Amino acid sequence: MAKPIVAKDAVQGAGASAKNGSVTAKSPAPKAAPAAKPAPVAKPAPVAKAAPAAKPALATKPAAAPAPKASRPPATAKARSSSKAAGRRHSISVLAGDGIGEEVIREGLKVLDAVAEIEGFVLDRKMLPYGADHYLKTKEAMPAAALEEMGKSDAIYLGAIGDPRVETGFLERQIIWGVRQTFDLFVNLRPIRLYHEDLCPLKDKKPADVDMIVVRENTEDAYAGLGGIHRKGTPWEVAVAEMIYTRQGVERVVRYAYELCKKRNKKRRLTLVDKANAIRAQDIWTRTFAEVGKEFPEVEQDHAYIDAACMWMVKNPEWFDVVVTPNLFGDILTDIGAMIQGGLGIAASGNIHPGKVSMFEPIHGSAPKYRGLNSANPVAAIEAGKMMLDHLGETKAARRIESAVRNAIETKRIRSLKAGAYKCDEVGDMIREGVRTGAGM
Ligand code: IPM
Ligand code: MN
Repeated sequence: MAKPIVAKDAVQGAGASAKNGSVTAKSPAPKAAPAAKPAPVAKPAPVAKAAPAAKPALATKPAAAPAPKASRPPATAKARSSSKAAGRRHSISVLAGDGIGEEVIREGLKVLDAVAEIEGFVLDRKMLPYGADHYLKTKEAMPAAALEEMGKSDAIYLGAIGDPRVETGFLERQIIWGVRQTFDLFVNLRPIRLYHEDLCPLKDKKPADVDMIVVRENTEDAYAGLGGIHRKGTPWEVAVAEMIYTRQGVERVVRYAYELCKKRNKKRRLTLVDKANAIRAQDIWTRTFAEVGKEFPEVEQDHAYIDAACMWMVKNPEWFDVVVTPNLFGDILTDIGAMIQGGLGIAASGNIHPGKVSMFEPIHGSAPKYRGLNSANPVAAIEAGKMMLDHLGETKAARRIESAVRNAIETKRIRSLKAGAYKCDEVGDMIREGVRTGAGM
């Protein structure tokens, strides 16, 4: 048992230092950084210099995540929407879900319909009933046949899932994780952009300082569900949750992040966020990041441990351009990201498998206590709709939504993204109007 003890010591060391404010156990770079700006972190050590080819070592699909055959993503979105002459049509599966999901999705669809009309395409939609109400009525959470149907659409538009009447995490696992896993949506794309300094809780940070994209791995890690609880409720209870990383799983998301960073063409800096000093299994991220990076000499390789990355996010968010990180850290880091861009009322995400059916959703949860009050802010759902249009190739329409949202915030017609600040449908109407008049274009 020598290894676990060493690993545990390492974790305690880092934890202790974090608690008493010392950074000695952290990445050396932040410690040496001048107050104004984080020092460039050294490139990840090319540990695997002699590592063989770019060929992934693992040739099989991860055992943890076999996608049901029937619901494998079908043809590419491109192939399916190629009937240009007959007018562009995209089919979307809409899963409003629980709590405020329904109201924010209603506003999102309102905006999507307006932009579709202007840009000349049609969104055919299929409304799906899954979520807590449906489950409590029917005991049906996410039927395989529904997943199969969703696989035939071009994209999935999700509101929010989660309800206190149902066992913690059950619906989230069946529906959110179920879709992510079934369609192998290995990228969770989370742009973090501040549209107005008044929305940022950080002192003296301007829109130019908060402009980054987090690429969160979306199919592995502690989320894979490997483990469980043994001898539950006894004094000998054992609880295990394995963090798993496959070479293929890491490589594809890392490559996606490099490509995005290059294409985005801002700072051209890709930051790997991990905890490879304490969780040595994450050395697979260190090595893969360095190896894939050889294909992208134009992209600067940067690194931060997750604890330090949280610190930098609030201290010097301007340091970040594109971030790539494992599933769990990405989940946590992007809630900080949501806050510095104005709150959960605006943060959106895409669960993506490039070229295949993908799912778009606000980062916020179902907020059951706000359900039906018409007080939730639908901007995050509207932004998720924008990301969906980008994925469907409707980039002009996506820009139109982005401009309308940005304009409403810049001109201070939306001054707060908090629930209750405005009526949900009032914000939806405002953005729809902006879309129609080309506000901010
Ligand atoms: C998110 C959510 C989910 C996650 C939950 C609801 C399972 O927090 O999309 O960030 O942890 O992935
Ligand atoms: Mn989350």
